[in-house]
Amino acid sequence: EQIKKGKYDHYMQKEIHEQPDSLTTTMRGRLIRGGESKMKSVVLGGLKDHLRTIRRSRRIVFIGCGTSYNAALAARPIVEELSGVPVTMELASDLVDRQGPIYREDTAVFVSQSGETADTLQALEYAKSHGALCVGITNTVGSAIARGTHCGVHINAGCEIGVASTKAYTSQIAVMTMLALALGDDSISSRIRREAIIDDFFDLPSKVREVLKLDIEMKELANLLMEEQSLLIFGRGYNYATALEGALKVKEVALMHSEGILAGEMKHGPLALVDETLPIIVVATCDATFSKQQSVIQQLKARKGRLIVMCTKGDAPSLCSSGACRFIEVPHVEDCLQPIINIVPLQLLAYHLTVLRGYNVDQPRNLAKSVTTQ
Ligand code: G6P
Repeated sequence: EQIKKGKYDHYMQKEIHEQPDSLTTTMRGRLIRGGESKMKSVVLGGLKDHLRTIRRSRRIVFIGCGTSYNAALAARPIVEELSGVPVTMELASDLVDRQGPIYREDTAVFVSQSGETADTLQALEYAKSHGALCVGITNTVGSAIARGTHCGVHINAGCEIGVASTKAYTSQIAVMTMLALALGDDSISSRIRREAIIDDFFDLPSKVREVLKLDIEMKELANLLMEEQSLLIFGRGYNYATALEGALKVKEVALMHSEGILAGEMKHGPLALVDETLPIIVVATCDATFSKQQSVIQQLKARKGRLIVMCTKGDAPSLCSSGACRFIEVPHVEDCLQPIINIVPLQLLAYHLTVLRGYNVDQPRNLAKSVTTQ
């Protein structure tokens, strides 16, 4: 059943629309609310004997490639906040190229949908040989990374067939956010924050269902953008990853040049590209970086940038009153879960752009679902 397209034209489309269910499966049995003590908590069976060691590590190193790297980047701030352990990011091939420092006191977290990516596997062998605790986050039971790590969590997103990863991305972020909650479980001071996140986890499938209703709107936007040469996506904080992942989707399937840019770096180069023609998506949903994104929008407008602003429902008037921008309005969730919502319209945009431009959605030119050679 899972490997049939059903009512959909393409696997990527099916997998985008499956996300309310795949997220439900990812969460199943792992988030506990209520009970005698009314405590809310997270249970990650595969890690329960290792949480103390991870909390005491000198640092956590997230390692992956492509979309899996972007998912780890999205989860980095909440893992740092709730665990108090510094988190560094490594693209697997770069860690191996540099033979970067990995210590016995490190926890190395390997994120891979397939669990078979050669670069990630090589980084795993390297980290193991340096004595780090190795944790696997994969979607494939029995995969090389699942077998080769000391412990781990399966994301349970179900089989993903489209080469461009969609539902695995959102489930990976969900699992790494649960990891953050589990690591922070012993802290009284963060309890209110953790409980708010757990509450929003339970609402997540319905919020994703809500954001999927933007499908027609994103098809219209794709129609408008289909002839473009290039698309920039600006994000920051939790949504820097959204910018990178949205741009990756657009380039890998729609074969359109697209760049995800950290909005804080705008004035250090990208601003030179801004004119009346180049389309720019700015992710400016409500979180601690909102006022900074407001000023980014002002600066882009001052240079007559062609803006498409992704914002929280109801915020549009405060961001751009003159009718100069288009909006993608999304439902609000806790900041660390917002990347799960925000990527959905960009997945839909990449999908529709691909269909309109006449390219192969499920098997993009030159790409493979799982890159098992170096
Ligand atoms: C390939 C795929 C990407 C994927 C990356 C990492 O490049 O085309 O969609 O993100 O591999 O794959 P993994 O299975 O390790 O998550």
